Amino acid sequence: MSNQTNWYQEAVFYELYIRAYRDENGDGHGDFRGAIKKLDHIQSLGVNCIWILPMYPSPLRDDGYDVADYMDIHPDYGNLDDFKAFLDAAHERGLRVVTDLVMNHTSDQHRWFQEARADHNSEYRDYYVWSDTGTEYADTRIIFLDSEPSNWTYDEVAGQYFWHRFYRTQPDLNYDNPAVHEEMFKIIRFWLDIGIDGFRADAVPYLYQREGTNCENLPETHAFLKQVRRLLDEEYPDCVLIAEANMWPEDLLPYFGDGDEFHMCFHFPIMPRLFMALKREDKTPIVKILEQTPEIPPGTQWLTFLRNHDELTLEMVTEEDRQWMWEQYAPEPRMKQNLGIRRRLAPLLDNETPRWLLLHALFLSLPGAPIVYYGDEIGMGDNIWLPDRHGCRTPMQWTAEKNGGFSEADTTYFPVNDDEVFGYQQVNVAAQEDEEFSYLNLTRFLIRTRQNQPALRQGEMEFVETGNTAVLAYWRRNSQQRIFCLFNLSTKPQQVELNMKDLHLPMRDLLHPEIEPLTETAVVLEPQAAHWYIYD
Ligand code: GLC
Repeated sequence: MSNQTNWYQEAVFYELYIRAYRDENGDGHGDFRGAIKKLDHIQSLGVNCIWILPMYPSPLRDDGYDVADYMDIHPDYGNLDDFKAFLDAAHERGLRVVTDLVMNHTSDQHRWFQEARADHNSEYRDYYVWSDTGTEYADTRIIFLDSEPSNWTYDEVAGQYFWHRFYRTQPDLNYDNPAVHEEMFKIIRFWLDIGIDGFRADAVPYLYQREGTNCENLPETHAFLKQVRRLLDEEYPDCVLIAEANMWPEDLLPYFGDGDEFHMCFHFPIMPRLFMALKREDKTPIVKILEQTPEIPPGTQWLTFLRNHDELTLEMVTEEDRQWMWEQYAPEPRMKQNLGIRRRLAPLLDNETPRWLLLHALFLSLPGAPIVYYGDEIGMGDNIWLPDRHGCRTPMQWTAEKNGGFSEADTTYFPVNDDEVFGYQQVNVAAQEDEEFSYLNLTRFLIRTRQNQPALRQGEMEFVETGNTAVLAYWRRNSQQRIFCLFNLSTKPQQVELNMKDLHLPMRDLLHPEIEPLTETAVVLEPQAAHWYIYD
């Protein structure tokens, strides 16, 4: 383990959905050739690494998380050469690229499953998890609650039940079979040899099943994941392995191992609490969850996010808080999904810039590497009339022209949003380029300001008591500098007395360079104010 800082610990990520970004060949689906043309936009945000949603051949029953062939590109997106061209173009701009690695399951259209179900004696039969009764592992929860009654589905062709933690079109792989490990190692090497910079490993807690457990976070799962990490360390040392494990902080810690498992884990529990704190105008949920968050090994990092391609998950809150979040943020039944909320960021914030700014200033000053979900940088809306999580995956809005500049086709994979508030006619990149305080320019400003400060990229965090539950304050500090972050979560002005022993005035506000430095310890905070104070 080294104490040097790795690139990913200080990176800002951009989550990119190729189908949604730019359609270059006019078939209504975004593609890699189109995305290449839009790399300037991604670069202009000041991000360092792109995470691409699954881009493999797939019947798209789960939007690509049902992989039919791990070593190719979905024909809608182009081919392997197009992918390589995209990768080169990103690298030329200093942008790294990580892709999704779906290890837990395949599509039922994958050749392995097709052969496995058709023939008991096939070498692929044992690639999956079968049962004659479908009664085993009864203590395992169902994740896609709205659509799947069981984790077992009977397959007529196979004459047996097969195990699946997600849709029934996504049979789980059998990690008790060493041949499956070998397949995964082959796939991992295939993409890393092409030159990607790492993986976001999907749904990692569920790889193994054991009777009498909830089949999550099992020791066998961690043992296999450590092998994956060893492969990276030995053969691709600069690459990153990211865990998608939607778990409580104490269950997440083992995914970092002793610095020998994942380099990064998404911090799922902090996310809903940011929205909670904002609406309640009370910092308590944020303070509590960060106090509960354990130290992580040197060389590792959290990934933080406000929204992503899935529903805003409420798995990591109490039942009571979940009901409250649904009442506040999902007033219409169509906005709910499974244990979450299928809405985009700007609509969740009622499209109010001050609230957006407060949340972002807070989010971007937290420890961890932040992720921006495509479209949120311009405050795109959602389409709750589309099924599943698709309403948050509509085409990127570039201009006020046909299909928002996404495609020349007459029909696009999903309709471009054209509602009154969030439609492409109003919300698009081109319009926001020229507006000084647009979401786009604010995003750029905040990311740039953050990335210019080592203490924000990597520093320790220390809460400061303000005696006011609406006023959140903390230091971020490293060996070079310290920054004092101060937020008023309330929609009313708040007064605080800054009485920390180690405070020296004046301090200058990075977020409001035009304002006079702070010289007094008695501070009146404007409604929803956000400050990042620094010493000159
Ligand atoms: C992850 C993905 C989600 C997908 C699921 C099954 O949670 O983020 O989109 O449906 O895994 O692969």
